Amino acid sequence: MQLVLLSKMSRLVVLLCMLHCAFSYKILVCYPIPAKSLNSLGVGVVRLLLDAGHEVTYVTPYPKQDTHPKLTQIDVSDNVKLIENQDAMNITYLLENEQKFNNEIEWLQELAYQVSVNTLENDDMKKLLENVKATFDVVIVDLLEADLYVGLAALYDVPLIWAYSAGAHSTALRLIDDLQNPASSTDFFISVYPPYSITERFHVLYKQLEWRYIKYFKIKPKEEMSYKAIFEPLFAGRGRQLPYYDDLIYNVSLILSNDHHASGKLPSLPQNWKLVGGYHIQDPPLPLPEDLQAIMEESKHGVIYFSLGSVWKSETIPKRLIEDLLKLFGSLKQTVLWKFETDLPNVPENVYIIKWAPQQSILAHPNLKMFISHGGLLSSTEAIHFGVPTIGIPISYDQFININKAVSRGYALKVRLTYDLVKDLKLAIEKLLSNPKYKENVKALSAIYHDRPVPPGKELVHWVEHVVRTRGAVHLKSIVLDVPFYQKAYLDIMVLAYLTYKLITYVWNSIFSKQRRRYKKTKTN
Ligand SMILES: *[C@@H]1O[C@H](CO)[C@@H](O)[C@H](O)[C@H]1NC(C)=O
Ligand SMILES: *[C@@H]1O[C@H](CO)[C@@H](O)[C@H](O)[C@H]1NC(C)=O
Repeated sequence: MQLVLLSKMSRLVVLLCMLHCAFSYKILVCYPIPAKSLNSLGVGVVRLLLDAGHEVTYVTPYPKQDTHPKLTQIDVSDNVKLIENQDAMNITYLLENEQKFNNEIEWLQELAYQVSVNTLENDDMKKLLENVKATFDVVIVDLLEADLYVGLAALYDVPLIWAYSAGAHSTALRLIDDLQNPASSTDFFISVYPPYSITERFHVLYKQLEWRYIKYFKIKPKEEMSYKAIFEPLFAGRGRQLPYYDDLIYNVSLILSNDHHASGKLPSLPQNWKLVGGYHIQDPPLPLPEDLQAIMEESKHGVIYFSLGSVWKSETIPKRLIEDLLKLFGSLKQTVLWKFETDLPNVPENVYIIKWAPQQSILAHPNLKMFISHGGLLSSTEAIHFGVPTIGIPISYDQFININKAVSRGYALKVRLTYDLVKDLKLAIEKLLSNPKYKENVKALSAIYHDRPVPPGKELVHWVEHVVRTRGAVHLKSIVLDVPFYQKAYLDIMVLAYLTYKLITYVWNSIFSKQRRRYKKTKTN
């Protein structure tokens, strides 16, 4: 009797184990750009997939010390050298050379290309790629301009998912949707959103054409060369031929977009564009370190949190401006937490310099009055998630459009980054503190943001598993990708109409000219 039960139980254990194994996928996650904010997104993806029981290989420039039995990390910290000492990350330089720094599209595309080559040629990465026994079920790569990573999914013969750190931009939608109409599309290098004025439309059209020109005439030829150089031997090692590059670029299963409906109106989107913005946020947030917790609890007039994110270091702000900012913060009743990477002399009593800020936990604290931010998409999403009124000081890229949207949604004020920043910032702080409408608006948006069928992290895991289960989720692809250009432009019908017209006029003319000739003949006769 006992034996029978035991064998039944062991069968159950085997069955459960099989079920578990069947749902445990091997996933390659690649976030190679050396930017801490992008890494936060990558770490979020990895955490969610590990929690769901999957095995993850994470390619990152910032490998973590604490590991997980199902996590393998590939260290590409060598990529950091590609971005060090860049003038574009130096606030002093940006202030001094406002008009000189206008080739950011080319700069970013070139950087993304260099990072992609450096990543794929990294020694540890090479070892992984050359190991013909290694297999994966799906590949997830952060999409920042570079397309070269499409070779990874092809090499393992599995679906490709792009993770896009921004919203519904035409530079990402180009991979899974029809050509976007510039009049109704947005991008990170444009600070406004539709409907555009006539000058804005001109600017947007110009910028999109510039983007395309740089991508297709300058960067893509280099990408194709690197694709051949890097992937041809790898495919040969597996006895396979290198697929045609263009066939891979437009063979994306899904794009996970770090955006959400509460951030504003979006263009119509194909079904394989998934809005999972906010998935990187830990909910409930981790507890604050004790000293910070005490500071936030004990501030009678509330706390203001100031951070320009992780890419633009506060230490690159000009000295004079730092002194002015300290003076301004010192004159406030509130406590100010300033994320600053180095020690500062002469800090007023109510100002605390924190070198590493647990941002989500600070934003979650009920005693926080305001967030002064550069307006990166992570900070913007976190401000809505936790419902915190914001002052935006945009520096570059999508920060302008993020802050402009936040201002239009009534929960933020914008302050321009200039040498006069402090004067404008003082006014903005007073306005935000004295008018309750900013807080009410952001709380209303926060309610919209949280009102979803499932939290974004759950949704993300679902779609990744769905892509694996359905072998690439081909059914989610937009039908427009199947329709050739001549059909969309009605070229065939135009040609047909033209030929028909020609034929009719020919027949018509020949009948009438005959009649006319006959008529002429009878008349002369
Ligand atoms: C930032 O730019 C300023 C002005 O061009 C320069 O003096 C300074 O050395 C730069 N700082 C860094 C860290 O590159
Ligand atoms: C395109 O993706 C699908 C689904 O992931 C896959 O089956 C197919 O082999 C891919 N095509 C090419 C040319 O790689």
